[in-house]
Amino acid sequence: KRILVIHGPNLNILGKREPVIYGHVTLDEINRRLIEQAQAATAELKVFQSNAEHELIGRVQAAMDDDTDFIIINPAALTHTSIALRDAIAATDVPFIEVHLSNIYTREHFRRMSYFSDIAVGVISGLGVAGYELALQFALAN
Ligand code: DQA
Repeated sequence: KRILVIHGPNLNILGKREPVIYGHVTLDEINRRLIEQAQAATAELKVFQSNAEHELIGRVQAAMDDDTDFIIINPAALTHTSIALRDAIAATDVPFIEVHLSNIYTREHFRRMSYFSDIAVGVISGLGVAGYELALQFALAN
C-alpha cells in the first residue's frame, strides 16, 4: 500500500508556531511517527510539505501517476482558500482524509469553511498529532 502525507503552508514551523494552538511537536517528529507506523504495516509512506500552493498542486498531480492508494492532507490555510488544490486532489481520484491539528470550528469564523471536506472520505480536526495517526490507521485498513 502506498500512502502520501501532504502538509501545507507553515506546518514546517510546527513546534515553535503558536504552540498553545498547535502544540510543541515538530513536523519531523510527526513524520517519523507516521513512517514507523506505516513500516510496521509494511506500507510505503511518503511525506511532502510546501509553503507554495503550486508545489502542493504539482505533488498532488504526481500522485495520479505514482500508484498512490491514499492521501492524508493537512492543507493548512489553503483549506480555506484554494480551489486550485481542491481541483488537483479531485482530479487524482485518490481517496483522502483531511486532517487539522486544531479544531477549526472553535476558532475564527473564516476557518470553518473548507474547500476539501465535501470530497474527503473523512475529516479529523482538533485531535492534534493523533489526528494524523488515526487517519493513517484508517488508510492502512481501507
Ligand atoms: C490547520 C488549521 C488552519 O486553519 C490553519 O491555517 C493551519 C493549520 C490545523 O492543522 O489546525 O495552518 O490546518
